[in-house]
Amino acid sequence: MRNPMFVFDEKMADLVLGYCRERLALDPVPLDYGGYAASLPSSLRDVLAGLISADGNDPARVLELFSDRLATAVISADSPRNLSFIPAAPTKASLLFDMVVSSGSLHGTSWLEAAGAVAAENQVLAFLAELADLPRGAGGCFVSGGSAANLSALMVARDTAALRGNATLRPRVACTDEAHSSVGKALHVLGVEPFLVPAVDHRLSGEVLEAALSSDQPGAADVVGVVATAGTTNAGLVDDLAGVGSVARRRGIWFHVDGAYGCGALLSPAARPLFDGIELVDSFVVDPHKWLFAPYDCAALIYRQPALAKAVHTQDAAYLDVIHEALPGSVDAGSGEETDISDAPWNPTDYAYHLSRRARGLPLWFSLAVHGTDAYRDAVETVLANARGAAALISATPYLELVRQPTLSIVLFRRSGWSRSDYETWSAKLLADQVAFVTPTSWEGEPAARLALLHPDTTVDIVREIVETMA
Ligand SMILES: Cc1ncc(COP(=O)(O)O)c(C=O)c1O
Repeated sequence: MRNPMFVFDEKMADLVLGYCRERLALDPVPLDYGGYAASLPSSLRDVLAGLISADGNDPARVLELFSDRLATAVISADSPRNLSFIPAAPTKASLLFDMVVSSGSLHGTSWLEAAGAVAAENQVLAFLAELADLPRGAGGCFVSGGSAANLSALMVARDTAALRGNATLRPRVACTDEAHSSVGKALHVLGVEPFLVPAVDHRLSGEVLEAALSSDQPGAADVVGVVATAGTTNAGLVDDLAGVGSVARRRGIWFHVDGAYGCGALLSPAARPLFDGIELVDSFVVDPHKWLFAPYDCAALIYRQPALAKAVHTQDAAYLDVIHEALPGSVDAGSGEETDISDAPWNPTDYAYHLSRRARGLPLWFSLAVHGTDAYRDAVETVLANARGAAALISATPYLELVRQPTLSIVLFRRSGWSRSDYETWSAKLLADQVAFVTPTSWEGEPAARLALLHPDTTVDIVREIVETMA
């Protein structure tokens, strides 16, 4: 007799697909409450008690418990009223196709196993590489997030140093203290020391980098790479990519750009000049689960010369040899400038520290193919315009102070006379009232409010509602 878990159950399928359909149709998406204890119906431990049992449960009961008690304890990342951290704004097409990826167990580890999925993912990577003006032949893979991408890229930076004549016993990577926390973590994992370069007005510049590398600062001679940020998480600032890139080129050190949040704005012709110099990168990351309107979890990691990454990341094991052997009729891929990554045999596993992977680039691929790139450009430009509108509104509000004009879509501001605890109390009430999710940050040592706009439906009217609660 077959194990019933593997037999299609029409009733359960209707139940779960019905829930998905309802969630997808919600307009607007409710913000909901997350872990704020005051909003929890009872302890989540009590809600879940006894649920994992030897005999299982009726799926209707489990789904009801999820939708009524658990889903409400998750703040909707895709609500236009979520302006905290870096939220999400997946298109409906991308969410629908994420269900296809799940229903089909679509994986994308190797060309041998998953050529169709890999070719489609690579089509998106080629599109992103072109936005950054990288040469044909640039490529990489989708990983789970900016943190995984930074780690994978910096591993290649470290291990490629010797090839570039920069062999050192104590490799270091230059960055400022404005680099995302995941960069520090990645360096720690890799046993690489950060070489801290002072930021000028919170940005890394080529001039200051050159001065630091030419100085007698300890470790200057051991620097094998540099990380610039294209869209800092706290303030949305873009480093001097052209300056930093040309120093890196001249010195033969690896140039990595962390555009996990900001590089979505490569799509905007008006914002594109901010990223001048990105064409010099050895590697860059952009997270489609941030500002390219894809569901979690999806980060694009792209190398100028994927062969360098392949040399570092390929896993050797007897049972894996077969994925690296040429298939009948194949050409060698990842070998440099000539290969078109859309249709060459390509193993995504060879371009990051992972092995098995979900074909997480496909929801973006489907949505881009359906809507077209102009729709994406327009959505990004709407967000940029709303951020400018929010800044103008804040500047015109007497009890508020705009910290600085937004470069991208993060708006920092202060309420006169407020302490950190005032911001925290206000933030909790704003969520409790379901007006918005806005968490405080600090800027130059002082507390501040921070709006991260990412959803095209986060209008200036929503921002007005938020700031009126600070009066
Ligand atoms: C600039 C930057 N880099 C890296 C990350 C880490 O990305 P993830 O959370 O997807 O790992 C973030 C997250 O906000 C980010 O803003």
